[in-house]
Parts: sequence; structure tokens; C-alpha cells
Amino acid sequence: MTEILAADADGIARAAALLRGGGLVAFGTETVYGLGADATNAEAAARIFTAKGRPRFNPLICHYPDAEAAFADVSANAMAQRLAAVLWPGPLTLVLPRRTDCPVALLTTAGLDTLAVRVPAQDTALALLRAVGRPVAAPSANHSGLVSPTAAAHVLEELSGRIDAVLDSGPCAVGVESTVLDLCGAQPRLLRPGGATPEAIEALIGPVAHGAASGSIVRSPGMLASHYAPALPVRLRVRDVHPDEALLAFGPPLPEARVAFNMSERGDLTEAAARLFAGLRWLDAEAARLGLARIAVMPVPDTGLGLAINDRLRRAAAPRDR
Ligand code: TXA
Ligand code: MG
Repeated sequence: MTEILAADADGIARAAALLRGGGLVAFGTETVYGLGADATNAEAAARIFTAKGRPRFNPLICHYPDAEAAFADVSANAMAQRLAAVLWPGPLTLVLPRRTDCPVALLTTAGLDTLAVRVPAQDTALALLRAVGRPVAAPSANHSGLVSPTAAAHVLEELSGRIDAVLDSGPCAVGVESTVLDLCGAQPRLLRPGGATPEAIEALIGPVAHGAASGSIVRSPGMLASHYAPALPVRLRVRDVHPDEALLAFGPPLPEARVAFNMSERGDLTEAAARLFAGLRWLDAEAARLGLARIAVMPVPDTGLGLAINDRLRRAAAPRDR
């Protein structure tokens, strides 16, 4: 059952409690309705991908009540400070380097070393974010590939029964997603056009390069290449482990591995998704320490979240030129 919560003190308190407990709560922002989860909880983030039916793990935007909270999790440069001072709260998302002590789960950022942060201009959303007291990951609250919802009814049409609650704050004022601006490189880059205009941004920080015209930059191969890939080669769908391999296991581990990380001993795909990126990083470091040559990965079924896990593993195993 999906609860429909009013945008009053009780509704906000209930929504915050659900989020803090690892639940999924859709909430209105000035752009579109977001499907929220505690960004620091990898299993909650995994449930976002299940609910949306995403075929792959895209990095999620994290929402904060103010710039101070956002910039505690990312390193803000001078451009970020200037943009935030004028355009936040508002429909602008900034991609910045994660701080080393950033508590956001690796699955939330799809293993990237960067984090997209945003402070929405919507009073109910801000009150909710203050009440949660943790970053809230929220992609648009629709099935992957369908149009973004700008009213609670749209959210329910698609996601009723698949999420814990929707906080109904009425229709969204802007109606298109936030502008996504990457501030990690030498020049700022527009990754997705949206509610904040290039003119407003350029008036504050000067010329901005334009990313993939398609809008979602991570869909473009160039962006995919910057996803975290292990340093070691990866061998997929193994039935046996060689002596020079570290094992990424799923289900009961193969006995002969020198070092193993099990994504989910009970074979649960949500748990496995939540542990995938942390496991790859840990095995990479352990294998280097032990002088191993490769990471071997046990088969993961191609159903549900297994599709996204296998997509990510295939890219980790693909030939790369570095
Ligand atoms: O208006 C919005 O931004 C809405 C509301 C709910 O805040 N959210 C939203 O999220 O549109 P989503 O997941 O549908 O779109 C997020 C976009 C995607 O194109 C994603 O690839 C990009 O932001 N993105 C997120 N994190 C990124 C990162 N670390 N680097 C590059 N792009 C990132
Ligand atoms: Mg979307």
C-alpha cells in the first residue's frame, strides 16, 4: 500500500520517518516529483532502481535543505559557491567531487567519485529534507523512459504499490527537471538543460561548455567510460577460481578463492546491488595487496536488478585503454 500524505507537519514527519527507516517516498519539488530514499543507505537506493525498473545504475541526484549541508558532502569550488549563493534554492544541480568522508552510498552515485547535489525551491521539500537530516537521493518519480511526473496523481499512476508513500505538495511550478552542471573539469559543462537557464548561469561564472545534446550525459559512451572500473581485469560468469584471482561472489561462495567478497550469500539481488560497488573497490585493493592478477565474478541471474548488476559488470570487464 502506498500512503498518500498531506503536505502538513504530520505528513512531513511521517515521510521523514519512512525515509529514515529506509523506505521510498515520492515528494514534490519545484521541477518534478522525485522518488526519494536515504542516500546513505545502499539498500534503500537499490530499491529506487527496482521501483523505477531501471535497466542500469544511473547516478542519482542528492537533495539537501541548504548549500551548507550540500557542501559538507562535496568539495565546492569558487564557481559552485557563486552559483549556490544566487541560484539556490532552485532548479540547478551541481556535479562536484565527493569528499572522502562523504556518507552517500556508492550505489547512489553508481560508483562515481563525483556527486550531483541540489537544493530544491519548494517549501515542503525543504521541510522534509531538514526533518530527514540526511541527503535524500531522488530521481524523477516515473518508470525509466517515461515522462516525469508533475503531480502526485502522476506518481501514483505509475508507482502505486511499489513505493511506501507520496507526499502531495500539489503541482510542480517549473515542470521540467533541473539543469545539471558539471563543475569537476577545467571548464564548467552543461550535462542536461533544465529549469535554470544557461544565461543565468553564464552571467555568474562565464562561458559554459555544452555536453551531450541528448540530455542525459551518462547515457553517452564518453560518460560511461568515467564510471569506476576496477584496476584489475575482470572475468565474468566463472564456475571456478584460478589461484591468481580474487572472487566477487553471489550466493554460496566457491571454496577455493584466496580472497572473496560476497554480494549476497542468500542470493538476494537488492542486497547484491547495494554491495556491488563497495565490493568491487574492496576486492581491487585486496587483490593488489596480495599481488593477484584478476577479479573473477560468479554468475548473477538476468532478472530484476540482476539486469542492472550485469550491465555494470559487463562494463567493468570490457576492454579499456589505460
Ligand atoms: O529536477 C530534478 O533534477 C529531479 C528532481 C526530483 O530533483 N531529479 C531528476 O533526477 O531529474 P534524475 O535521476 O531523473 O536525473 C538525474 C540526472 C541524470 O541525467 C544523471 O545522469 C545526472 O543527473 N547525474 C546524476 N549524478 C551525476 C554525476 N555524478 N555525474 C554526472 N551526471 C549525474
Ligand atoms: Mg528522470
